[in-house]
Amino acid sequence: MEALAPEQLKRAEEVNASNRKALEIVESLNNEAGFEKKSNGSTYMGNTLNPKSASIAQVLEHTLAARVNLDTRASKLGFELEHLAVTIGTIIHGPDLAKEQSDQAINFFHDALRERKVIFFRNQQHITTDQHLDFGRRFGPIEVHPFIKAKEGYPEVVVLDHGKDSPGQENVWHSDVTWREEPSLGSILRCLESPDDLPEGGDTHFADMYLAFEGLPALLKEQVRSMKAIHTNNVFLGGLAGKGYSPEQIQALRNIFPPTIHPIVRTHPWTGKECLYVNTAFSHEVDGMEFEEGFPFLMELYKQAAIPEYQCRFRWERGSIAFWDNRASQHYASSDYYPFSRTVERVTVMDMTRPYYSPGRTVQGPGCKPSSKL
Ligand SMILES: [Fe+2]
Repeated sequence: MEALAPEQLKRAEEVNASNRKALEIVESLNNEAGFEKKSNGSTYMGNTLNPKSASIAQVLEHTLAARVNLDTRASKLGFELEHLAVTIGTIIHGPDLAKEQSDQAINFFHDALRERKVIFFRNQQHITTDQHLDFGRRFGPIEVHPFIKAKEGYPEVVVLDHGKDSPGQENVWHSDVTWREEPSLGSILRCLESPDDLPEGGDTHFADMYLAFEGLPALLKEQVRSMKAIHTNNVFLGGLAGKGYSPEQIQALRNIFPPTIHPIVRTHPWTGKECLYVNTAFSHEVDGMEFEEGFPFLMELYKQAAIPEYQCRFRWERGSIAFWDNRASQHYASSDYYPFSRTVERVTVMDMTRPYYSPGRTVQGPGCKPSSKL
């Protein structure tokens, strides 16, 4: 580096003299207000994983205990866990999902899903579509999606197939099918083709919606606990006109799936805890508010899923499987792999529970039962 000119040195000294003066003022104010001096000198307390918030500290303590419990149980089953982020996302190495899983293994996957919100498996390229479905059925009945292309001969298997002529459309934070009266428990996505020729691209991001709620300012938390939002499938119906559907045909579909109202904060049926339950794809109105007032309010809530501390990011490989809980998480599929292809197939497990707000009340549903509670 070249030596600084005398006038540059003089300017640097002037700037630091001001900085030192400001630092003295900040420190004296901090002392008066009783703030601790942080290692970075900042007194900012953002809505991130700050353990000074009692509710966040509780989440972190629970998370650490759950991880120890899961790690111990995994090793007894011959599995190895790779946690992707603090509170969300764990790869379970070891299982071969082509084989029928023991009740013990299924209960472990159930508990891992409950604690980690999304679980992943690698190297499952050899499993058949029937085996993919059989695995899903261990957690509950499988639903048919009325609007997304299904695999030929398998109405319960959704195909998401993107490439040069059909760019990815799932790059929006959402959880699946919240426009149903009884939205799904979770989705099990298997990667058939990934942009393997690229060093990056096509990753899916997942956000922890317990934290999205817990991180809200206290007054806002209290306010949204009693509010409800309207969920629709307009994103699908809106595209049908361009495919040649008549207004009458579109209305007939709207009659089958009318707008549905869900609490903005729902109680998770497995844990009894509170999750933020609005998303950019399907919930655009607050029940009882004008759109002009309600939509900007919801936009503030949507932003919570985008906070990096609440997220994990998954890199797909051919044969990878992601199983996420649609009640406790949202996801976002990066559409950054043009002109390469990405083909995935999804099996969606029904929940058969209408979202409700009643903290502490749990409903276990029709699938397998958890083997242990933390
Ligand atoms: Fe989705």
